[in-house]
Amino acid sequence: PASDRLAGKHILVTAGPTHEPIDPVRYLANRSSGRQGFAIAGALARLGARVTLVSGPVALPTPPGVARIDVETAQEMANAVAAALPADAAVMVAAVADWRVEQADHKIKKDGGAAPELALVENPDILAMLGASPRRPHLLVGFAAETDKVVEHATAKRTRKNADWIVANDVSGDVMGGNANSIHLITKTGTESWERMDKQEVARRLAERIADAL
Ligand code: C5P
Repeated sequence: PASDRLAGKHILVTAGPTHEPIDPVRYLANRSSGRQGFAIAGALARLGARVTLVSGPVALPTPPGVARIDVETAQEMANAVAAALPADAAVMVAAVADWRVEQADHKIKKDGGAAPELALVENPDILAMLGASPRRPHLLVGFAAETDKVVEHATAKRTRKNADWIVANDVSGDVMGGNANSIHLITKTGTESWERMDKQEVARRLAERIADAL
């Protein structure tokens, strides 16, 4: 590795979207590419951490030195995260679907009548689950994709989910799926706004900050 600043530390990263089946052939998803989370996993590994990357369905290569676990649904992601504990730090970058379809085991057929109605149920909040866990990682970092009142909403999220830091990004522009990101780092003591930079650079800087904190 380029450095051993994080040698001996286990860091859990979630990334990508989740896919929630509507029936055996259809799913609900979102526009997350997984790029920011994969970049963070790679940057942490380059600092010498043992990295477990729990990834939803994405089209990205696994960064060198990272142990990757592929999942599809939020529930599978929650299970994989729980199974990967303990961790010194967790960085929850995944855009986890907030809801899943209650009944998804039979293909919905067109029958010429009314359009089907999907009954949705809430998914587990993996970040909040870690925040409340007796096995809570020492440093718990969440992300918040917001389109308005970015810092205000993200600051509230930090307390609500018992995270140490929230990385807030403004996704009203071209961030979702793009290469660049513009973020605010919200901690207990305040908010830092970083200039717009590419996702690899956000990852490098965040990994250094994580190494400072551990
Ligand atoms: O509430 P919101 O989805 O905006 O919170 C975003 C943060 O919470 C991200 O860190 C995301 O990975 C995490 N999250 C989660 N499980 C969910 C929903 C969000 O871990 N079901």
